[in-house]
Amino acid sequence: MMRDFFPGLAGIPAAKSSISFVDGERGILEYRGIRVEDLAEHSSFLETAFLLLFSRLPAKLELETFNRDISQHRRIKFGIIDLLKALPEQGHPMDALQAAVAALGMFYPFHDVREETTRYLTAVRLIAKLPTMVAAFARLRRGDEAIQPRDDLSYAENFLYMLTEQVPDPALAKIFDVCLILHAEHTMNASTFSGMVTASTLADPYTVISSAIGTLKGPLHGGANEAVIHMLEAINSVDRIPMHVDDKLSNKEKVMGFGHRIYKVKDPRAIVMQTFAQQLDCEAGPQSLFTLARAVEAHMETRVGSKGIRPNVDFYSGIIYHQLGIETDLFTPIFAMARVAGWLAHCFEQYQENHLFRPDQIYDGPHNLPYQPIETREPQFQ
Ligand code: ACO
Repeated sequence: MMRDFFPGLAGIPAAKSSISFVDGERGILEYRGIRVEDLAEHSSFLETAFLLLFSRLPAKLELETFNRDISQHRRIKFGIIDLLKALPEQGHPMDALQAAVAALGMFYPFHDVREETTRYLTAVRLIAKLPTMVAAFARLRRGDEAIQPRDDLSYAENFLYMLTEQVPDPALAKIFDVCLILHAEHTMNASTFSGMVTASTLADPYTVISSAIGTLKGPLHGGANEAVIHMLEAINSVDRIPMHVDDKLSNKEKVMGFGHRIYKVKDPRAIVMQTFAQQLDCEAGPQSLFTLARAVEAHMETRVGSKGIRPNVDFYSGIIYHQLGIETDLFTPIFAMARVAGWLAHCFEQYQENHLFRPDQIYDGPHNLPYQPIETREPQFQ
């Protein structure tokens, strides 16, 4: 019997969800029904995280309590610092983050997915501690001590402070916070699906988030923000763009930061981030990464715009982080710091109406082969 097959499950709904909505034809993204542009303009990352987790914007007192709870759980145990110290300094920070998050679950055992207080505390811990772990690994790998979080700083300010030991300009911290809002959630993407599959086994949220972090790392997903910077640095000058891009397209290689399974227009998050990248570009020279990026976008539009291949969230986010002086391999961990809010919302939604994910496959191998004795087998590897 012929059965339909959908590689990459493209277009197949795998869950019902009220967390976020994307219209890829019109370039609309909503979290719990609110346009992401409105959240970028009016909200903060922690308020948005509350919205994703609890389906509504918090009242003033609720937000104060949530902010305070997050501030109080920013510290990480010495055991986690020791674990980060033991990892190879050349290793990728996403691997360090994945290992540290998985280990976190050993410090805070989570027994019952139905228990609301434990779920709240787990969400608070994960949102609070991810930035501390990312900043700690960034410092420890170059021989510096990890910096203790400061309760008097906002979420974004505190992360930038733990990275650099300097309290950032509030305007820059605000831009960084908006980037976190824009990365906080995006329907059924690869890392969210990966986390939901793990949640559907009723594994604890630490294991769920570490699964999602592993999936986010790949260059076709969150890792693209890092790849965009490497690509722009390799291009290095506006006149080399046509040659570089055309080479890639004729070799059927992907141009990083472009294309999306859902969006056929420019990603609405890229539009907001482009504005910030432009603001931050004021003092850079004519060959700045932003100038290069705009020229790559213009050239891509002439070549593949008609196919709906346009900048995605990762195209301008890396440029902003680069402009803020952040090391390139921390871009994807920063994506994870933001997306943990969406992953947790999906994890809890999955627990609520759980059905174990166990898709089918179409077997296309042989049947009824004889078992061949070892003496008669021809070696295939030299
Ligand atoms: N550069 C060049 N061509 C592209 C690109 C790109 N970035 N993206 C898609 N295409 C082309 C493909 O070559 C293919 O062309 P064809 O029909 O002539 O064979 C067609 O568009 C469809 O491409 P697919 O890879 O099949 O589309 P899919 O929906 O699976 O791809 C994806 C989505 C994986 C994001 C893809 O666009 C890509 O690899 N982009 C580059 C990596 C990237 O930026 N990833 C971040 C995505 S956003 C995020 O995950 C947070």
